[in-house]
Amino acid sequence: MTAATAPPRILVLSDLNPPDIMEQFCASHAITRDIEARDGIEIVLTSGTRGLTCDEIDALPDLRLIAVNGVGTDAVDLGAASARNIAVTTTPDVLSGAVAELALGLALSVRRRIGEGERLVRSGAWGGGQKARLGRSLIGARSGILGYGRIGRALADMLRALGLEVLYYARAPDQNATDAYRANPVTLARDCDVLFVTLAATPETHHIVGPDVLDALGPEGTLVNVARGSVVDSAALATALHGGTLGAAALDVFETEPATPGGPEDALLRAPNTLFTPHIASATYEARRAMAQLVIANIDAFIAGAPLPSKVALS
Ligand code: 8YV
Repeated sequence: MTAATAPPRILVLSDLNPPDIMEQFCASHAITRDIEARDGIEIVLTSGTRGLTCDEIDALPDLRLIAVNGVGTDAVDLGAASARNIAVTTTPDVLSGAVAELALGLALSVRRRIGEGERLVRSGAWGGGQKARLGRSLIGARSGILGYGRIGRALADMLRALGLEVLYYARAPDQNATDAYRANPVTLARDCDVLFVTLAATPETHHIVGPDVLDALGPEGTLVNVARGSVVDSAALATALHGGTLGAAALDVFETEPATPGGPEDALLRAPNTLFTPHIASATYEARRAMAQLVIANIDAFIAGAPLPSKVALS
């Protein structure tokens, strides 16, 4: 008889959703939530926003897999992972529709002033005679997508289905795209009414939406960000909104999260013509369940020594 080998220990830094899937996962895997446990931890389960820092990677000598419940790897120190040959997996594709759907909802809501209108009704101001302000239509607007990856392309499909013209910027033109390419973010912003930001946060994309892009989008333009806060210069955005040089902005992500009144994002939170959500673009039952299943598929493949279904290519 051969001695049974102990299952790999998994450090859980972030829960999977919905809760039933997390309960099943915990019951069937050797998990710990104690980051001080260190020795023997071969797998870390984390989220796109929690990630795993270089110091944390250094403190886990047996680490071999970082399984991210999300698609963003900006919070994971990929250099440190790559240097130790630690695999990193994410959950691409399964959340694209949900994120694109929220981007569409934000654009519709902020342009048609749905949040503002709702506040007018609830506060009684409507009954008191206050009139709602005119909005701007989304249908008929020209849309621009900054970042033409899986999420950007899913959004482009939705926008085209609504009859919108779609332009996009990516590092290189997509040979299969039917949408029109713009060679830089400023010309993209200049040529569209609604600019959707869907690109990955990297050192190259930090503050890619700065004063020049916001100026090009202009006083009738709308910015929608469902990517990461770091890709938009939030001080420049607040200035543009307060000064009326940008029409409107709807944000699901912030440079500092959670964004709170009185905190670093205060100027933005006080800006006119804005709509904010608390980083919920992938937060649907459907998307989160599919994400959880893909995380578990990656972890189980790793444990079985099989190829990982959605491994990130590390340089
Ligand atoms: C999640 C995300 O909020 O995919 C990402 O990178 O930011 C989101 O989908 C997060 O990772 C949930 O666990």
